[in-house]
Amino acid sequence: MNILTTPKALQDYAKSVKRTGETIALVPTMGALHAGHLSLVEAARKSADRVIVSVFVNPMQFGPNEDFAAYPRTFEADAAKLEAAGVDAVFHPAPEAMYPAGYATCVEVTGALTAKLCGAKRPGHFRGVATVVLKLLLLSGADKAFFGQKDAQQVAVLRRMIADLGVATEIIMAPIVREASGLALSSRNAYLSPDERTAALVLSKSLQEAHDVYETGEKRAKVLKEITAVELSKEPLAKIDYVELYSFPDLEEIERIHAPALLAVAVYIGKTRLIDNIILGEEPCC
Ligand code: PAF
Repeated sequence: MNILTTPKALQDYAKSVKRTGETIALVPTMGALHAGHLSLVEAARKSADRVIVSVFVNPMQFGPNEDFAAYPRTFEADAAKLEAAGVDAVFHPAPEAMYPAGYATCVEVTGALTAKLCGAKRPGHFRGVATVVLKLLLLSGADKAFFGQKDAQQVAVLRRMIADLGVATEIIMAPIVREASGLALSSRNAYLSPDERTAALVLSKSLQEAHDVYETGEKRAKVLKEITAVELSKEPLAKIDYVELYSFPDLEEIERIHAPALLAVAVYIGKTRLIDNIILGEEPCC
């Protein structure tokens, strides 16, 4: 497995692959890899000749009071998992390699897609995500790039970006991977104490509750959001950041569900902010 640490090394590697006529799938990550990331790698493996995984905790997507410094960095363990998963190359640059002195360019998807949900709560977050992902797509020449549904808004934003800028990469969204308990896998689960981990089950439980009611024929957005919020508020350690339901992937306001819709929650469990979601209407296919 190649370990590449500079943008130039990634570009050269991608060029050498392309010269042989092979296709490239990219899995962008911030490391602290879990089974959710590995499911993206597996899907990537099946869809292209070569798989590149980036491991980069991107400073540009963290706000000043967020967890950039504390974010888990476990590169050696990550590299071992990626090697075992048959990855061809890992891109692991230092922040100065991605954003050298004089760096001055940002990519911003404007409007409704970034103004709501996590965009409203984390100003500048999606500018950082769009900037780093576009740079990764350009450097890697990826034919396909894989992202998890847990960050469904991120997928919607990135799809808008590549459509608007004419980037040829196909953005593929893979299903959320959950523990048997229902807890969505997340690198931030590592911050939870045992009690908080139990409390965190309320996220998936509340979404499941809304899903079950939806399945009985309830299509009103307001009612489904209310059911989710009521379930969340039963957990004393949980503090709701948002409970929202929008059309997906446009993220438009809807009163009733008649096409795919994203029911999304962000909840503080102690100091840890967790997100989870479910798509109602039509399950996405990966
Ligand atoms: O989803 C993530 O882990 C990050 O937002 C990404 C896509 C790797 C960009 O830094």
